[in-house]
Amino acid sequence: MNEQPLSGGFVSHVVRIGDTVRRGTTDRSEFVHRLLHHFEQHAWPGAPRFLGVDEQGREVLTFLDGHVPAKSQDGLAQVARLVRQFHDLTAGTPLAGDQEVVCHNDLSPKNTVYRDRSPVAFVDWDLAAPGARVHDVAHMCWQYLGLGPAVDDLATTSERLRMMCDAYGLTDRSQVVETILWWQDRCRRGIETGTDAAMTRLRDSGAARSVRAAHEWVTANRAALEVALK
Ligand SMILES: Nc1ncnc2c1ncn2[C@@H]1O[C@H](COP(=O)(O)OP(=O)(O)OP(=O)(O)O)[C@@H](O)[C@H]1O
Ligand SMILES: [Mg+2]
Repeated sequence: MNEQPLSGGFVSHVVRIGDTVRRGTTDRSEFVHRLLHHFEQHAWPGAPRFLGVDEQGREVLTFLDGHVPAKSQDGLAQVARLVRQFHDLTAGTPLAGDQEVVCHNDLSPKNTVYRDRSPVAFVDWDLAAPGARVHDVAHMCWQYLGLGPAVDDLATTSERLRMMCDAYGLTDRSQVVETILWWQDRCRRGIETGTDAAMTRLRDSGAARSVRAAHEWVTANRAALEVALK
């Protein structure tokens, strides 16, 4: 059957065949497949279904119809509620180990399927791992709000930050901005020191510079962002 490359993927080679998506496996895949199976057992619609492994050793996932944008601020509260749903579904399960929940660890519009401008599912679960709720909440706020020098209205963005944390139902917000800075620092260092092809491509695209600028912007506006979260 016809293989159609899916654009946007910086890290993996992803193709669509009919109603399925095929992606190479990683050493994290066994965990991810158990996680996707857990979502299926709970009939949670926010992730692709894992259908098996094909003759080339690629994982086979259901193709989710919709639009995956590079950037979008549509349905921010719905994004936060979807995150809350899968966190609650994994809390207290063996998948979360000794951590609060399973985190996606790469929540962003480019890993979100939208239908009629509403977020309906997350793809790209490769980095999912046990973690703290605030880790995903912070990454989500950074990515969906585009926290960085491109923000042109600090008051509106701060209000949206609060709204996303409210929609998630995060009670302790004291670590949110600190964790955004942690993510930005970690991400920049990963790009700067990574030796694989994907990291080299990211470095060549100027990604490390833009993540550094985002970190500087959050540092400079930290007080305003934290006041909005109180
Ligand atoms: N199950 C799916 N249903 C629909 N589209 C999908 C699915 N999986 C992936 N895609 C599309 O393919 C693109 C690349 O897939 P994916 O995000 O998994 O790859 P990646 O290289 O790991 O991405 P990234 O650049 O985020 O690291 C996605 O942005 C999305 O547009
Ligand atoms: Mg992706």
